[in-house]
Parts: sequence; C-alpha cells; structure tokens
Amino acid sequence: MATQFLIPFIFISYYALTISGEENTGFVGSLDPKSIEKKPTLSHFRFYWHESFNGSNPTTVRIIPSLPKYNTTTSFGSVAVLDNALTVGPESNSKVVGRAEGLVASTSQTEFNLLVIMSFALTEGKYNGSTITFLGRSPIQQKVREMPVIGGTGVFRFATGYIDSTTIFTDPQTRNNVVEFNVYVYH
Ligand SMILES: *[C@@H]1O[C@H](CO)[C@@H](O)[C@H](O)[C@H]1NC(C)=O
Ligand SMILES: *[C@@H]1O[C@H](CO)[C@@H](O)[C@H](O)[C@H]1NC(C)=O
Ligand SMILES: *[C@@H]1O[C@H](CO)[C@@H](O)[C@H](O)[C@H]1NC(C)=O
Repeated sequence: MATQFLIPFIFISYYALTISGEENTGFVGSLDPKSIEKKPTLSHFRFYWHESFNGSNPTTVRIIPSLPKYNTTTSFGSVAVLDNALTVGPESNSKVVGRAEGLVASTSQTEFNLLVIMSFALTEGKYNGSTITFLGRSPIQQKVREMPVIGGTGVFRFATGYIDSTTIFTDPQTRNNVVEFNVYVYH
C-alpha cells in the first residue's frame, strides 16, 4: 500500500523541484536567445577519410577482439579506435583539413554492422578548432551508410543534420580504405 503512494510522491516532488529550480536554485537562469543567436546556415561538406591498418603507424587499431563464440563473419564484440586524416580529395597526398577521431564497435550478431561514435575535428580556416560529432549505425555492406549528426562545437554549436558515408576504395591486401563523407549540417 505504502509503495503505491511513494511513486507518485517522488514524481510530484521531482516535478516541483524542477519548476522551482528555474527560479531560485542559484544554478540555473534563462538566457535571451538573441545573445547567442545567429542566422542558421545549412552547409554541405565533403571529406575523404583515410584509414590505414598496416605499417608501424596504423590509424585504426582494434583494441578489443571479437568474441570467438559468435559468428566470426560479423566480428560481434570487436572494438576499434581510430584517428584518420580527413582530406579535400580522395588521393592519399591530398590536403589534410581535419582528423576523424572515433570509436567503432561491431554490434550485430547477424550482419557486419558498426556502432560509430565519431568527431570530425577540423583544422582549416574558420573551421579550425571546431568539431562535428555524429553517432549511429553503419551497416557496412550498404553502399551509403547514413548516420545522424548529434552536435558540434565552435562554428557547429547546436548542429543538427546527417552524414552519408560511402567507401570508394579498399586495398584488398591491407584492407586500408578511403571513405567519402558527405556532411549535411545546420549550424
Ligand atoms: C601500407 O599499404 C599501403 C597500400 O594500401 C602502401 O602504400 C604502404 O606502403 C603500406 N605501408 C607499409 C608501411 O607497409
Ligand atoms: C553468419 O553471418 C553470415 C553473414 O552475415 C550469415 O549469412 C549467416 O547466416 C550467419 N550465421 C549464423 C549462424 O548466424
Ligand atoms: C589551427 O589552430 C591552431 C591552434 O590555434 C594553430 O596552431 C594552427 O596553426 C591552425 N591551423 C591552421 C591550418 O590554421
């Protein structure tokens, strides 16, 4: 009997706290949107992402192997970290304009799908020091994998949008690859 009343009570008191908190907690205040407002821009960026597994300085490193008891073709359970160059063109000597820093995990038991958590840290011009962050599911058998932009910093504050990624080159020996990223972002 007592617990039946406890749950609504907790809910009501939490609700009351958040309402009154807006006025007098000392740690929150409202801000005039105009103080940080700027005209939203919709931009389309295209980057080429260079991933290397071979040599003494690989840019993508598997830190946790897949679990042997699961279907090895899906690599379920494996986790890799990466710090890949982002360039303006697909060539390996193309100008570097940022880095892709992220974590990818194989999260399907039936397909080769990745959970991707990644920030693009840009280093060029007015974008230098700004980041775009995205998080999503990448079914790598699909030609184009779409993932949502979940935010950003610097010129990308309040960013929303999506990313399309397409592998355009894979070296069959090293499995090194080049991926084209098209980023559509409101910021
Ligand atoms: C790694 O493989 C690439 C081809 O994908 C090759 O150009 C490069 O020389 C290799 N690097 C090393 C250190 O073996
Ligand atoms: C293992 O993965 C492959 C490729 O996705 C799939 O065709 C196959 O059915 C899977 N096998 C099992 C036992 O899940
Ligand atoms: C980007 O900013 C950093 C830190 O302010 C600076 O050292 C670097 O030279 C800048 N890079 C470019 C390409 O402007």
